[in-house]
Amino acid sequence: MKKKISNIPFGPYIGVLAGAMVNGKPNYATLGAYGVVSQKPVLYISLKNSHHTTSGVVETGFFSVNIPSSDLVEKTDFCGCVSGNRTDKSSVFESFYDEAGNAPMVRECPVNYLCKVIQTIPMFDFTMFIGEIVAVYADEKCLENERPNALKVDPIILMDSGYYNLKDRIGLVFKACNLDK
Ligand SMILES: Cc1cc2nc3c(=O)[nH]c(=O)nc-3n(C[C@H](O)[C@H](O)[C@H](O)COP(=O)(O)O)c2cc1C
Repeated sequence: MKKKISNIPFGPYIGVLAGAMVNGKPNYATLGAYGVVSQKPVLYISLKNSHHTTSGVVETGFFSVNIPSSDLVEKTDFCGCVSGNRTDKSSVFESFYDEAGNAPMVRECPVNYLCKVIQTIPMFDFTMFIGEIVAVYADEKCLENERPNALKVDPIILMDSGYYNLKDRIGLVFKACNLDK
């Protein structure tokens, strides 16, 4: 039987690290609020206005989305608890860059998206930044047919106030579409 419960989203979400240059230094914040918005190569992140990272995205017009593997859970949690407004997080990870845009990417993360802001949507005390993907990097060991394999990437799942990793594949996306032909 169904029970009506509180109007809040429960997850699961993938934990990512949003990166931006702030006053010339790389800074990273942990986010659950990121995702795709269409079939175009575009991602959104939603950042609280008071975050250090937010000022960098506004300043430069670029951000990165870095997908940490589960072995980076402690550093990921750190970047989600400590603000660059008070503590320099520029050396928590090794940063690398691409000429397509001024945002730092995390070398230790197996997948990195570099995004150029194309739209900004105020959302209460947050801002949603919609970014066109201008460069993508992936560790070769995580690739299968030139695409990142999620099981090899081993992302961090946020749910039930905890961090989890992925288990096995249990189905194929669009398998049921054959029934519609
Ligand atoms: C698991 C987790 C998920 C988070 N998700 C978000 C989020 O989606 N959006 C956001 O603005 N802050 C989120 N935060 C909080 C920021 O990561 C945190 O306040 C961070 O210290 C901000 O860093 P900064 O001020 O250096 O940018 C999250 C924190 C954690 C631990």
